[in-house]
Amino acid sequence: PRYIIIDNDAGVDDAWAIFLLLKAEPRNQVLALTCVNGNTSLENVCRNNLRLLAQLNERQIPVYKGAVSALVPPEKESLSNFTSDIEFFHGRNGFGDVELPKIDSLPQLQEENAINAMYRLVKQHPGEVSLVCCGPLTNIALAIRMYSDFTENVKDVFIMGGNYTAMGNKTRCAEFNFHGDPEAAYIVLQEMEGKTTLVPWETCVSAGVPQAWRENLGKNSGPCVSFLNIIEGPIMDRQRRLGYKYLSADQLLAAIFHDPNIIEETMCTHASVELTGSCTRGQIVIDHLNMNKHNTKIVKSINLQRYQDLITSLVESDRRG
Ligand code: BDR
Ligand code: CA
Repeated sequence: PRYIIIDNDAGVDDAWAIFLLLKAEPRNQVLALTCVNGNTSLENVCRNNLRLLAQLNERQIPVYKGAVSALVPPEKESLSNFTSDIEFFHGRNGFGDVELPKIDSLPQLQEENAINAMYRLVKQHPGEVSLVCCGPLTNIALAIRMYSDFTENVKDVFIMGGNYTAMGNKTRCAEFNFHGDPEAAYIVLQEMEGKTTLVPWETCVSAGVPQAWRENLGKNSGPCVSFLNIIEGPIMDRQRRLGYKYLSADQLLAAIFHDPNIIEETMCTHASVELTGSCTRGQIVIDHLNMNKHNTKIVKSINLQRYQDLITSLVESDRRG
């Protein structure tokens, strides 16, 4: 079996990724949702995970609280470098600022922290647990530093993050998740040598589709997609006004994880992360001269039709119940 831990900072596209994996993969193989600070505060991320699980009628999968901030959080003044404000996309609560019913009891939120839980689960299933990472990599880096045999027991790590050309989304040059914790991304790429698959920002952009496709997809939807429609509504309105395409980065990551045949082209290479550049902090640095051992696989392009077909079929299965 292939077990899965979904590390996330939900986030609307994280919610899509969780929906997709819970619908498409055997549920008993999804071992945990681990939460990390990112799109919104850690508290909100945990709450959003629980809300989503309730919506998916899923009462078994445990939710764990992870890191409350990046290893080295940005100084306030460096915020002026930013080109985008995350609240603009995900809202202050991470779910589009949509008023959601209050959750009184949070039975699935565990006492144990995410780092310990990840290690324990990986040790229970050595070589069989995949980490699907939809947010900054703080939790994974902490597990690597806490437990010297964590890395060797992980099967593989799928990451939405980074950019290998100069096209960022958080800053001019850096993608949100890697910019959110560059040191953590650096540690994970270095230590998880050969186990990482990266879905970078450029690939997500190339997977953009007309908003009309998404709107059509959401019509006559089942209970979970109705919920996704609600939390994604404000983003879609804004994107439509701005004439942007619809793209959902973490959704794409989950789709690629579930069906690797979606991948068209990959590049095996040595990748690291810029930590000190005043403009480029968080950008991936590729060894184009091939002087270092390859440590990662970067997904460069995908089969858009196959990806869309997968999403459509899951939305239909949600409608059928
Ligand atoms: C990534 O940043 C976040 O806002 C999204 O959830 C996604 O993980 C895209 O750069
Ligand atoms: Ca995310």
